[in-house]
Amino acid sequence: MTPTFSPAEIRKDFPIFSKTMRGGNRLVYLDNGATSQKPRQVLDAERNFYEQHNAAVHRGAHLLAEEASIAYEDSRGVLAKFLNANDDEVIFTKSATESINALAYSFGNSAPSSRFALKPGDRIVVSELEHHANLIPWQQLAKRTGAELVWFSIDGDGRLDLSNAADLINEKTKIVAITHQSNVLGTIVPLDEIVKCAHNVGAVVVLDACQSAPHFAIDVKKLDIDFLVFSGHKALGPTGIGILWGRSEFLNQMEPFLTGGSMIESATMTDTKWAPSPKRFEAGVPNMAQAVGFAAAITYLNRLGMDNVANHERDLTSYALKKFAELRGVEVIGPKNNKDRGSVISFTMDGIHPHDVGQVLDQYGVAVRTGHHCAWPLMKKLGIVGTTRASFYIYNDEADVDVLIDSVEQAQKYFKV
Ligand code: ALA
Repeated sequence: MTPTFSPAEIRKDFPIFSKTMRGGNRLVYLDNGATSQKPRQVLDAERNFYEQHNAAVHRGAHLLAEEASIAYEDSRGVLAKFLNANDDEVIFTKSATESINALAYSFGNSAPSSRFALKPGDRIVVSELEHHANLIPWQQLAKRTGAELVWFSIDGDGRLDLSNAADLINEKTKIVAITHQSNVLGTIVPLDEIVKCAHNVGAVVVLDACQSAPHFAIDVKKLDIDFLVFSGHKALGPTGIGILWGRSEFLNQMEPFLTGGSMIESATMTDTKWAPSPKRFEAGVPNMAQAVGFAAAITYLNRLGMDNVANHERDLTSYALKKFAELRGVEVIGPKNNKDRGSVISFTMDGIHPHDVGQVLDQYGVAVRTGHHCAWPLMKKLGIVGTTRASFYIYNDEADVDVLIDSVEQAQKYFKV
């Protein structure tokens, strides 16, 4: 396939790639599953907000307050368009983790008559692929309400086993909270089937898009899901900002998670009427500069085109999987071909602990994540202590994969395996 953009050109937009790493090496950044690097356009957008428009949004009657409010709401519009959603359905949070907690606490605080209320015997369905952010809030909600937490298992290839879908997602199921793409294995889940099963029994689907939204186009209407979360920092944006998207008819029936200023329609000393979404879920002065930076990141991705981003990463993953298959003593954990998988490659090495692998790779300028990847139950299921994970993005190219493979071979030489 003819490349539609040049990773080498893209790297020029990212100041961090001019840094010299250990041993005088260039940076080969392959830890994008944990966080992405930030282009100058995002850094400039945040700085420009502080230098030119900084004021608390939706409050003052002065020029800066007006400009800040416009910048903040325009950013919401950029995010809404990115997801093919309506503006009032996009809520800015501090992170994807906060977005999931906002849902879990909102559901947990629902009146018994609400469709979101949970009682003993109701079900929450997750999967063994979840990272802790999409497991622990649901596990704890189940404990608080007496609901039962059940989960899809994975098969030997690291794909979801849907053979018991009708048993797991039954008439007792209220919530199906599922990752779109595994942060450890790269597996992309068969969402259509899961959404159909959930909606057949009146359950809502919460999609954890942390590892998908930065990497391929998402259309919440086409996916037919009910809620979606993802974070800014994995999508070229700043830290401290995330998204909670939900259908507006649901959001406007839900209890807020955080209460305080800005999220109210009216208040007396004893009672409060909640504002409609999105304000209902944005208590306090929000993350304004981060929202503006997040929108700049999305604009950057839109300029490249999300289909081009996805194609680039697919080609790179194919190349890397082929190179890994040629290595002896190295096993890719999870799907070994490029079907329904993203650009995350986890591997183990005979006789070398992942942390030791990470340290050797670091000597060559290669940044990867090692360990359990905030997915401890998945590691237990796989019967391993951890993996070394390389995760790609727009600025990576085949030369980066070659450095990775060479440094894996250096680790084998160093540890004499
Ligand atoms: N879920 C993030 C990762 O995979 C933290 O690194």
